[in-house]
Formats: sequence, structure tokens, C-alpha cells
Amino acid sequence: MGTEILSVAHYVPSNVLTNFDFEKIVETSDEWITERTGIKERRIAEPEVATSDLAKEAGLRAIKKAGLKSEDIDAIIVATATPDTYVVSTACHVQYKIGAKNAFAFDLWAACPGFIYGLKVAKGLIKSSGVKNVLLVGAETLTRFLDWEDRATCVLFGDGAGAVIVSNSDKKDKIIDVFLGADGSLKDLLIMPAGGTLTPFSPEVYEKRECFIKMKGREVFKNAVLRMQEAVDIILERNNIKPERIDYFVPHQANIRIIEALRERLRMPKEKVYVNIDRYGNTSAASIPIALSEMEEKGVLKKGNLVLLAAFGAGFTWGSALIEW
Ligand code: ACO
Repeated sequence: MGTEILSVAHYVPSNVLTNFDFEKIVETSDEWITERTGIKERRIAEPEVATSDLAKEAGLRAIKKAGLKSEDIDAIIVATATPDTYVVSTACHVQYKIGAKNAFAFDLWAACPGFIYGLKVAKGLIKSSGVKNVLLVGAETLTRFLDWEDRATCVLFGDGAGAVIVSNSDKKDKIIDVFLGADGSLKDLLIMPAGGTLTPFSPEVYEKRECFIKMKGREVFKNAVLRMQEAVDIILERNNIKPERIDYFVPHQANIRIIEALRERLRMPKEKVYVNIDRYGNTSAASIPIALSEMEEKGVLKKGNLVLLAAFGAGFTWGSALIEW
């Protein structure tokens, strides 16, 4: 039995925050943000909007595009690091909101590569347990967990959701391979230290700004390039595929300089690498499915294209995937 991506869709909040808007919030400039990150603007969810609302919109669009109904979904996986609630998964919120009453539902917490982790899990579920249609959503409302006084992090992230329907098929596997990695020893380089069982929320925690995302940018940058390169090399080698056979490379959108470093190492022409970080910033687990959805809408992605994905994020976690579109 094979697996394939039946459809892809995305949803981003309409509220746009530009670099010029940030100049009024922290000591920064459009020039600094653009040069160091490639970001020009990002989307911010309205206060009443939760991660599951973004996931719901993207999910319903993906279900419709696949020609399915909510009742046809057997499993919902929401890859997110910014859940609606800690007890009750975001996936259960989504299951209720879209009326997918035949689906089991759970969250997958792997930060930015969460979507790639989700592909591996969705493929495994289909192959091993008779599941037919998996709704896999990458959804984040990261701007809720940003320290709006820390210019080194608050300018980087945005909100959004991307969703795919992964289904069984009687043809060859189109989710050709997924490679995953993790290294918890480097967890402190990118972490929200408080809010979990280790350090629950308290006024002191808030005072120390520990309930917000903290990042050692330079170290994360170096590790991101190294690990994504490694993930790409491993998956290409073990599938005996030369980089020139790849039609499109869709990297996690964290920093244009990381994407460029990878592109150069892979010797990929610019037109084969999809970039939308300028419009959305880093949307963590949502970044790759949002990119795939835009590529499909624009008619860039065509049936039969060989697509390479790679991502890196908090944990550290990383991964790559090879897909035939
Ligand atoms: N505006 C102006 N100046 C700034 C800003 C800003 N927004 N942010 C930092 N600076 C300053 C710093 O204070 C520092 O000043 P100093 O030299 O006086 O101390 C200077 O700019 C340089 O700071 P660096 O952190 O060294 O800048 P760098 O070139 O490394 O860029 C950045 C920082 C953009 C964060 C980069 O390191 C990066 O992209 N890192 C990787 C992020 C990433 O890949 N994340 C992926 C995972 S995300 C996830 O999993 C949720």
C-alpha cells in the first residue's frame, strides 16, 4: 500500500505587522530585520483567535480540496508548539470545530520540523493500522509567546496554519522517505523556560521573562545550517538521488541566510527554492505546509514533481522528507 498527499491548503490571519510597525515597538529598523533575516512582515492572530481556529480554517480547506467531508477523516494530527490548552490537545479542539466525528486526534510537539515529523507519523499510521485519511496540520500562534521587549526574538515569528490530507493509495509511495533527528542536550539554546511542569507560571516567572521564547540566535543559526544540510544529505544518499533531480526544495522559513547557505551547499538554482519568509516570518510547524500550499495555488508545483523538505527547530529537532507531488 502507498501513501500520497491528496491536497494542501493554508490559512493566515489578515492582520499584518510590518518591520516599520516594529520600529515603533522596539529599537530596530526595517533595514536590520530585512538584512539579517529576510523578513518584511508577518501575520498576527487577533486576540480571540487560537491555534485551533487557524488549524480549522486550513484543515477545512484541505478537506474540501481533496473532495472529502469531515466525516471521512480518520485521524487528525496537529503539529504545534503553541497549543490552545495544555490539557486537551489542539487536535481535539480542531476535531470538534470541523465536525470530524470519526477521527481520533492528537498533537505532535516537535517545534519547526513538526510538519515533517507529522508526515512520518501519518505515513506510519496508514501503513500499519488501516487508517485511510489523515488530516495533518502545522499550526502556530507563536506571537502569543514572544517577549515584545526582546528585539532579538520578537521580530522573527508569525502566526499561521497549513494542512494536508495524507491518504492511502494502491500505487507506489509518494511520501518516498522521511528522515528525523533530535538532540535534547542543546535544548537551552532555544526554549520557553517556564509554563510547564518544570517551572509553572508565576508572577516571578513573568518578572524574569521566562514565560517567553528565549533564543541564542547565533548558535541556533549554526546548528540549523549543519543539521538541515545533514538531513538533506542523508535522505538524498539513502534514496540514491542527486540534488539536480530535485524539482523543488522547500526549506523551513526561519532566516533567508540559512536558506541561502543551504541552497549554495546543495548547488540549487534560486528558482528551485521556495521562499516566502518575507511575508510571514517564521511560522514554525506551519511554515512548510503554507509554502507548499502557496506553490500549489500558483501552479508552481505540478503532479510528478520531486520535492525535498527540510526543517530545524527547538529541541533541537530536525528532519527532511522526499515527496513525489
Ligand atoms: N534590531 C536591531 N538590532 C538587533 C535586533 C533587532 N531586531 N536583534 C538583535 N539585534 C542586535 C543585537 O543586540 C546585537 O547587538 P550587539 O552586537 O550590540 O550585541 C547585534 O544585533 C547582533 O546580534 P546577533 O544575535 O549576533 O545577530 P545575528 O546576525 O546572529 O542575527 C538572528 C540574529 C536573526 C536571530 C539569527 O541569529 C538567526 O536567524 N538565528 C536562527 C534562528 C532560527 O533558525 N530559528 C529556527 C528555529 S525557531 C523555532 O524552532 C521556534
